Amino acid sequence: MAQLLITGGAGFIGSHTCLVLLEAGHQLLVLDDFSNSSAVALKRVAELAGTRLQRDQPTLIKAPDTFTLVEGDIRDAPCLDALFASAKACGQPIDAVIHFAGLKAVGESVQQPLRYWDVNVVGTQRLLSAMDQHNCRTMVFSSSATLYGYPDQVPIPETAPIQPINPYGASKHAVEELLADLAGCSGAAEPIQASGAGWRIARLRYFNPVGAHPSGRIGEDPNGIPNNLFPFITQVAVGRRPELTVFGDDWPTPDGTGVRDYIHVMDLAEGHREALHSLLSADPQLLTLNLGSGQGASVLDVVKAMEAASQRAIPYRIAPRRPGDAAITVANPALAAQQLHWRTQRSLAEICRDGWAWQQANPNGYGDGCR
Ligand code: NAD
Ligand code: UD1
Repeated sequence: MAQLLITGGAGFIGSHTCLVLLEAGHQLLVLDDFSNSSAVALKRVAELAGTRLQRDQPTLIKAPDTFTLVEGDIRDAPCLDALFASAKACGQPIDAVIHFAGLKAVGESVQQPLRYWDVNVVGTQRLLSAMDQHNCRTMVFSSSATLYGYPDQVPIPETAPIQPINPYGASKHAVEELLADLAGCSGAAEPIQASGAGWRIARLRYFNPVGAHPSGRIGEDPNGIPNNLFPFITQVAVGRRPELTVFGDDWPTPDGTGVRDYIHVMDLAEGHREALHSLLSADPQLLTLNLGSGQGASVLDVVKAMEAASQRAIPYRIAPRRPGDAAITVANPALAAQQLHWRTQRSLAEICRDGWAWQQANPNGYGDGCR
């Protein structure tokens, strides 16, 4: 059992990972500023895990509590210092950090690059400084397949060229570089490196996380009009939007629509558990792993799978390609299988079943269920 700090734990991937980590017996401290999430998600995680959520101040952590929420910003250095210090003072020093907090909208990052560098890069640097000061040197970091830009080969291995094509990707790349520097592996090209500096770090490059917990109690709740395919499709299925716009049917793919590697968010959450356990039981190292299924699905494959899951028609119209899109992005997940003994377990049909259950029970996301 470890004491873990989960930044951004109220978000889409963070909330599902909190549940998996509570079920694995860990104690969690969540730090989130709720800029893109709701505390309702964590209340529901507590319900599903059969525990209670305690809300606290960074200076007042009471021990021992299984699941504690602190509202705060990763850029707030005094808040971080107080959090690490008070966890230590009550006999529960933080053993490791799982760092989800950040901004993730590609289009917004083009409009607001300073904000993206501030939250994603400066925020992570402050967090790492606090960890270093308090002798906590284990981190699992949310990186992204967006680093591969327009990939030269698919399936994409971890050794593929890193070529971000927007400020969001550039900010993830900057953090990856900072983590390599900390681990004493600057310029490392190999996905597994011994860390000369005592840090245990996993840089996890997610492909396309989608779906929801099978209970339908927690799921993805994007603000406004979704940019991403999966939440858009579920909102069409539930009648919140009239039709899907398919960005291009002239891609060099079997049906002409874009192909992606969709990964069930519960598979992804379990990947974090395995990465954490691997780091905690190993010598200091820098691990860089793709988390994906290795299977590609086109936009029309997802439409068909969601129609089958929801038993509803999903109207769509074809529009021009979206600028910045790649034709095909699919992971080579072999290294994660070898290193973590982890691979995805859930199919596209299960992704749609669970995503639909969440959308149907919560047509307006957590806004419906604030209690
Ligand atoms: P999300 O927006 O649902 O979760 C991020 C959480 O961080 C939110 O709860 C938000 O309120 C919080 N947050 C943002 N800025 C903060 C700050 N300054 N201080 C404290 N908390 C802050 O996003 P997600 O989909 O769960 O993604 C989690 C991580 O995974 C992000 O770093 C994202 O870049 C990365 N990622 C996501 C995807 C994806 O498709 N969802 C793909 C690749 C990588
Ligand atoms: C997008 C981001 C990527 C980020 C990821 C996070 C872009 C260019 N890429 O990836 O950097 O890491 O989200 O999840 O924004 N599609 C439609 N209609 C829609 C929405 C999407 O046809 O309304 C198509 C897209 O053209 C693409 C596929 O669906 O072929 C998947 O799109 P999306 O869900 O946005 O994910 P990515 O583009 O892979």
